[in-house]
Amino acid sequence: MGYKEVYDSWKQDPEGFWMQAADAIDWFEKPTRALNDDNAPLYEWFSDGMVNTCWNAVDRHVEAGHGDRTAIIYDSPITDTKHKISYAELRDRVASLAGALRAKGIEKGDRVIIYMPMVPEALEAMLACARLGAVHSVVFGGFAANELAVRIDDAQPKAIIAASCGLEPGRVVHYKPLLDGAIDQASHKPEFCVIFQREQEVAHLEDGRDVDWHAFQYGVEPAECVPVEGNHPAYILYTSGTTGAPKGVIRATGGHLVALNWTMKNIYNVDPGDVFWAASDVGWVVGHSYICYGPLIHGNTTIVFEGKPVGTPDAGTFWRVISEHNVRSFFTAPTAFRAIKREDPKGECLKDYDISCLRALYLAGERADPDTIEWAQKIMGVPVYDHWWQTETGWTIAGNPAGVEALPVKIGSPTVAMPGYDIQILDEAGHQMPAGELGAIAVKLPLPPGTLPNLWNAEDRFRKSYLTTFPGYYETGDAGMIDEDGYVYIMARTDDVINVAGHRLSTGGMEEVLAAHPDVAECAVIGVTDELKGQLPVGFVCLTKGVDRAHDEIAKECVKLVREKIGPVAAFKLALVVDRLPKTRSGKILRATMVKIADGEEFKMPATIDDPAILDEIREALQSIGYAKA
Ligand code: COA
Ligand code: AMP
Repeated sequence: MGYKEVYDSWKQDPEGFWMQAADAIDWFEKPTRALNDDNAPLYEWFSDGMVNTCWNAVDRHVEAGHGDRTAIIYDSPITDTKHKISYAELRDRVASLAGALRAKGIEKGDRVIIYMPMVPEALEAMLACARLGAVHSVVFGGFAANELAVRIDDAQPKAIIAASCGLEPGRVVHYKPLLDGAIDQASHKPEFCVIFQREQEVAHLEDGRDVDWHAFQYGVEPAECVPVEGNHPAYILYTSGTTGAPKGVIRATGGHLVALNWTMKNIYNVDPGDVFWAASDVGWVVGHSYICYGPLIHGNTTIVFEGKPVGTPDAGTFWRVISEHNVRSFFTAPTAFRAIKREDPKGECLKDYDISCLRALYLAGERADPDTIEWAQKIMGVPVYDHWWQTETGWTIAGNPAGVEALPVKIGSPTVAMPGYDIQILDEAGHQMPAGELGAIAVKLPLPPGTLPNLWNAEDRFRKSYLTTFPGYYETGDAGMIDEDGYVYIMARTDDVINVAGHRLSTGGMEEVLAAHPDVAECAVIGVTDELKGQLPVGFVCLTKGVDRAHDEIAKECVKLVREKIGPVAAFKLALVVDRLPKTRSGKILRATMVKIADGEEFKMPATIDDPAILDEIREALQSIGYAKA
């Protein structure tokens, strides 16, 4: 069957399509039906099945005789370490950790926050939670204590599992003091913390609260896999929305297993036993779906890479990892390739390595610019597949189904809708737009298995953010078009979310931080185009009347404040003090116009603008930092 037949077979019988896909998963009790629409427009999948994620990701491969197969390859150019963990070893390590968590009271449904860098123990912590039916929430290491505190208060974890430190090139990230600070700030207090002590920095353990990762496992009974309902939350992953309060995306267990397993062959074109590598971080959705769960559920070998595309030690690192570990399919963000291209434009570093094992490169997380795609294709000699998805969906909305049929690539398009997704382009009133015309991208409900059923503790926000603008559809927050051949094009976000180096960030969240500066009366943060990171945040602040301190100093304080409150990952380094912000007559800040000015693009003067002269002031301010070139 080709792509069209597969897509049509889903369209004709969605229930049958997903029930068949569910056969590839081990169930304690098989679900009697795929979709549960009793509570539409909220949908659930495989609600009455009983299943366990860890069993499917680990134990079943050992039971099937593949215990010797490598499950995880840890490759850390930062610490100069490499080691392999087989499926049998992984089962024992995870069962022991889960046993220790259970001995301290962790049960099905309890939340556990995981705050760890790219070490195999991060995956083991996730899997140990899954083994017990506990709901994990992994927090990315580049966030500040305040962001961690917000997540602690929302998820209300019984326990936190953290590492003593993370390692960025040339800098130790002191996780433990960040964790202690976050617990101090949060109103909710976890009962205990498990600390994985890394040799690069051993952290102080708080008496009565913190236990050592190894010591607390001593003498405990390993835990078996606990069956959970198909609609039981597997995890919560917080992502940026329009405001500073992150959205807790829920992933339900049954659909997650079925959908991810389906994608491994049909999209990523790997067979069990093949090595699959996603160079991302466990703190992001790509890390959840394609460093941890997807490859392991499907019986692949996954790589936990602790390093950067450049500088650890050079622009040849990716090629080394691919050739040394025999990687078949490789997934990363376009920004990583832009970094390599900038450092090694001719691909000289590639000459030292044989990467003929590789079949394809997959890019996602942000817009893949044509230059980067063409460059990657040329130097690597493999197809480059852009694919589009979101934290909310957990897997590809539009992609190239290479394992079914490799469709011709149209550069600039992540290709076509995957089974499960009926993608439509809508105008403001919710009418379908003709082929080739721009509009909001929406997906007809229900969304497929593996996508979010709701937001944690925030059903109203879920309905408002995704289901209200276009009744009967899921609003993606992206704008774009579909051409005559059904190829999807993603152009821009329709909200205040920006994408910096493949990291999803909220400009609204940054504005909340700037507004808290005592000298700031008003502010706006926009995302300007950046050659390396795709977008970069730039903040504009207007000062409170009577403040006559040096503008440079205030700008520096603003930069420091965002780093302290949100974290280094915000990459917020540009703050400008201006007299006024451009607004409509009704007082709405014209952020989109400011972005056009910064990027040196043509724009139409907004009809409702209050005072056009302010735009010249903004242009001048941007020119002072090298933007807004004619
Ligand atoms: N823990 C702590 N800090 C982190 C971090 C982590 N896990 N990840 C990033 N940071 C810090 C960086 O050290 C940097 O700090 P600095 O301001 O002190 O230099 C800051 O956050 C910004 O990071 P980033 O935007 O990633 O920039 P960079 O200059 O460190 O690296 C790239 C640039 C392009 C090499 C890097 O962004 C990259 O590899 N991107 C791949 C994107 C990716 O994997 N995205 C995931 C979604 S698929
Ligand atoms: P995240 O939830 O962090 O994965 O970010 C999701 C957002 O990143 C999407 O809504 C898009 O705005 C953007 N994005 C992800 N993949 C792509 C892609 N292939 N092309 C364009 N934008 C993308």
